[in-house]
Amino acid sequence: MEPLTAGAIVVDCLLGPGDERSLADDVLDGLTRPLKELPPKHFYDARGAELFDQICELPEYYPTRAERAILLEHSDGIVERTGAAELVELGSGTAAKTRLLLHAMAKAGHLRRYVPLDVTEAMVRETAEQLVEELPGLSVHGIVGDFERHLAHVPPAHDGPRIVAFLGGTIGNFPPGSRRRFLRAIARLLRPGRDWLLLGTDLVKDPAVIEAAYDDAPGVTAEFNRNVLEVVNRELDADFDVEAFEHVAFFDREREWIEMRLRASRRMRVRVGALGLDVDFAPREELRTEISAKFSPERLRGDLAAAGLDLREVLTDPDDLFALSLSTPA
Ligand code: SAH
Ligand code: TRP
Repeated sequence: MEPLTAGAIVVDCLLGPGDERSLADDVLDGLTRPLKELPPKHFYDARGAELFDQICELPEYYPTRAERAILLEHSDGIVERTGAAELVELGSGTAAKTRLLLHAMAKAGHLRRYVPLDVTEAMVRETAEQLVEELPGLSVHGIVGDFERHLAHVPPAHDGPRIVAFLGGTIGNFPPGSRRRFLRAIARLLRPGRDWLLLGTDLVKDPAVIEAAYDDAPGVTAEFNRNVLEVVNRELDADFDVEAFEHVAFFDREREWIEMRLRASRRMRVRVGALGLDVDFAPREELRTEISAKFSPERLRGDLAAAGLDLREVLTDPDDLFALSLSTPA
């Protein structure tokens, strides 16, 4: 199981071809509810991953730049504070920002292993290969899986301290109860007195700034949002008229989260062939595709505490847009 040679790559693939199952269950559950909904993990097929990369480059989408600025400034400090030899990353994507941390660990002389976990297989494999090239001596143990179901497959920690990183504000995509439950599951990967959670959270700010980040002028986010319907069409033999759905993003001030929805422009009946299911949409009916919670200091501290984690340090960018925090098991 363990890569014994430095520079080795192991990839465990926990998603089989039968894993449209999870999509099928989510579609059956989500599209038969009174308020239709689909979970966000199905955005990220190859096209979705490409569109997400484009989103990260948009002038409106500040979270990636802000989080990168924090890592540029504080990677060495984080490595010094934690002494980390190993980095486990949930929803690792292209690991664009994580590189900064890995390089800082290498510079400090204690980088041993990187464990990226993502649903998109190509990203896990490509990232593993690039990083092993880039960082001599690094071992990569990639996991192609669902972080909601497969955390138990994260390999046991080496001797040295471990950081579990969950970046990009992805924690905000969980509704409040599941968010705390998920943080608790992460806490179980951490050894008290040794390991750390590095969590990226987007901060509460002017709603206009947030709404622009999720509804850019060129329409990349709109295309990303609609892409989930393409995924359902392809994987479950459905016949969504994708262009007939309008992208909607609005900040809910009460709940302090932004919601992404797809609004049917007219009455529609959609056939989901693989499920033998017909789904009716009324004119202007909306399907919720994602929430992205924004954090106040109270929300951050409260969620971590509820998961048995002690908030030890909060790092922000110069404009206070985004926060990276370090926590340890209480
Ligand atoms: N960490 C990167 C990517 C954030 S986008 C960054 O900060 O830029 C969210 C990432 O999480 C995508 O790469 C997506 O494929 C992955 N993801 C979403 N839901 C997931 C799930 N349930 N299990 C594993 N990975 C998931
Ligand atoms: N999870 C990221 C976020 O909350 C991804 C994201 C950016 C996203 N823009 C989106 C997800 C638009 C759905 C729709 O910021």
